[in-house]
Amino acid sequence: MISKNMENMLNEQINAELFSANLYLSICSYFQDQDLDGFANYFRVQSKEELFHASKQFDYIHAVGGKVTMKAIEAPETEFKSIIHTFEVTLTHEKKVTKSINNLVKLALSENDFATHNFLQWFIAEQVEEEASITNILKKLEMIGGNSSALYLLNTELGQRTFTEPKTNLK
Ligand code: FEO
Repeated sequence: MISKNMENMLNEQINAELFSANLYLSICSYFQDQDLDGFANYFRVQSKEELFHASKQFDYIHAVGGKVTMKAIEAPETEFKSIIHTFEVTLTHEKKVTKSINNLVKLALSENDFATHNFLQWFIAEQVEEEASITNILKKLEMIGGNSSALYLLNTELGQRTFTEPKTNLK
């Protein structure tokens, strides 16, 4: 059983993951409008990953006898100035998500809630991977500058990304 405080914060986290999914769909649409299908694919996959994160947290709350409370999701940004801007927005957002996961870990430790602490370790690793991936693409975009051939190659590379739902032991 989790505490009421932990239940509330995990519910907030579900809301944040669903917001992330919508933000990345919004960015996906920005790229689809420009026929940059590889970039659009990257963000569509990212959106699916966020839905998976929310679903994993949803299942965990149920598994430990808590109550899931779905709330209104804030509207994401819909206007982006450039390709680089979309990745800057993404990195800033993911750093915010990392902070909220860290705050959940701090709460779990303060409550001696070792089960939730253990559950959150997957998300700690996931955040490291997400921030690294976005930072890597940002560096590539800085190298590319205005070179359209290099941009074409990166678009092709990002088109290869696929989503495979990781196995979860909560269902
Ligand atoms: Fe669910 Fe991008 O963190």
